[in-house]
Amino acid sequence: MYTILKRLATILMPLVVAMNIASDEASANSSIDKAMQGVRSAVRKAEADPTRPICHFHPPSQWMNDPNGTIYHKGFYHVFYQHNPYDDEWGHMHWGHTRSKDLVHWEYLPIALWPSEEKGEEHCFSGCARINGSGEPMIFYTMVPPRSDKCVHQQWAALGDDDLVFWKKHPANPILDLDTQGGPRFGDSWRDPFIFEEAGHTFMVLGADLGEEAVIPIYESEDPDLSRWQYRGILFRLPKEDLKFFECPNFFKLDGKWILFCSPYRPVEYFIGSFDLGTYTFSPETRGILDHGRGRSANFYASNILFDNRDRCVLFGWVRGFEKGRGWNGCLALPRILSIGPDGHPRQTPVPELESLRGKHVQVSDLELKDGERALDHVKSDALEITATFDLGNAKACGMKVLRAGNECAAEIRYDSRSLVVAETEVPLELKEGENILDLHIFIDRSVMEVFADKGRISVTRIIDPGQRGMSIECFAESGEARVKSLEVWELASIW
Ligand code: FRU
Repeated sequence: MYTILKRLATILMPLVVAMNIASDEASANSSIDKAMQGVRSAVRKAEADPTRPICHFHPPSQWMNDPNGTIYHKGFYHVFYQHNPYDDEWGHMHWGHTRSKDLVHWEYLPIALWPSEEKGEEHCFSGCARINGSGEPMIFYTMVPPRSDKCVHQQWAALGDDDLVFWKKHPANPILDLDTQGGPRFGDSWRDPFIFEEAGHTFMVLGADLGEEAVIPIYESEDPDLSRWQYRGILFRLPKEDLKFFECPNFFKLDGKWILFCSPYRPVEYFIGSFDLGTYTFSPETRGILDHGRGRSANFYASNILFDNRDRCVLFGWVRGFEKGRGWNGCLALPRILSIGPDGHPRQTPVPELESLRGKHVQVSDLELKDGERALDHVKSDALEITATFDLGNAKACGMKVLRAGNECAAEIRYDSRSLVVAETEVPLELKEGENILDLHIFIDRSVMEVFADKGRISVTRIIDPGQRGMSIECFAESGEARVKSLEVWELASIW
């Protein structure tokens, strides 16, 4: 009898597994179809909104937040992103997906991850992507069950096809949970896996809660397939009065230094220093703000990076702070090349590929500004790129105004020898004694403005109200004489 049953089981088992896989696939397909229908339903409304940027990536419609799983693979830059396909507010976290060959033009791809409700999953939170030792594409992310089940995070994985387009949940999920992770009992917030390699080892870091401290635990992969992980310790910790939580930690080596980025419910912060592989600890030497959005509601948030085939470190971020009810909400910041300056602080430069969008061009040099405004004729566009060098001279302040159609001021960029103020966000900035020469690189794309100052040492992302159609600019000086040493303006073409 036993042998008959055993034989029956051997025959039936593959069938049951196959049926499970088939039902998993069927439920995945229907979840994705439903989600894509949600996106399609809002496209017309989103497209009609004159404030939606034309040079920044955004989903076809609805809500997006963090860039996830940024990876360069087979000639494409892939960016996944937190996505609510059903509304233009946060909720129902899926992973949207896009790819680009040039970091400028983006191709929409099917939704990559969806919450597997039949497995008790309500949201697929942020994470990263990697190719494992067997050459399989993998996504690592935080699985979030419904709140009523007590919000206990788990780390899950998904396996993708060779083009990273179609994904299925990993059979070994959860690949890490709070009961088996082998470390201290972290609080329920334990999320946003990020993977890095060093000296032949593969590590994962996460943001976590440990009593009075915000911490970043570190795990090491035990197998080349990246499905088993061992707790190694706490990479970095800070008291909660200093920093509440390390959302979306990115930890990686650049120019011989180790960089930690985190999104602590306020503008993204950087820490730069050294990593001790023996003790698995990070010791920062410098710290600062990566992008000065406004106060607690930073407009640039949840950064993520990738290294491309030219070994460039490309930085992505989520631009947030838009009004709801427009059929879309959120976009990617323009991709930036990241480096570390001689002072040990980061430098950010918009990727040079963006130059391909440059159209009509206006150039000015040696423009005297005498206690007043000088409009730049012939510039009127929804999207502009500007490079400028100002000499403050004996003026109290100088800068530039972005004007809506009808000449109302939409935003001001103002420098006064102590600080740079970009659309009401103030950043301390003292230039070389006695010189007061300020360089600016500005992108204005309808409601999104990104300003890079002092050779990429300062970056500020802001949301502005661009009005209906067409913006122009003027330069100004206050209480004295300043000079625009050089200024170039390009009208930018849409990326779509
Ligand atoms: C950051 C964040 C992450 C989380 C995701 C949820 O914006 O809160 O910590 O994984 O967004 O959408």
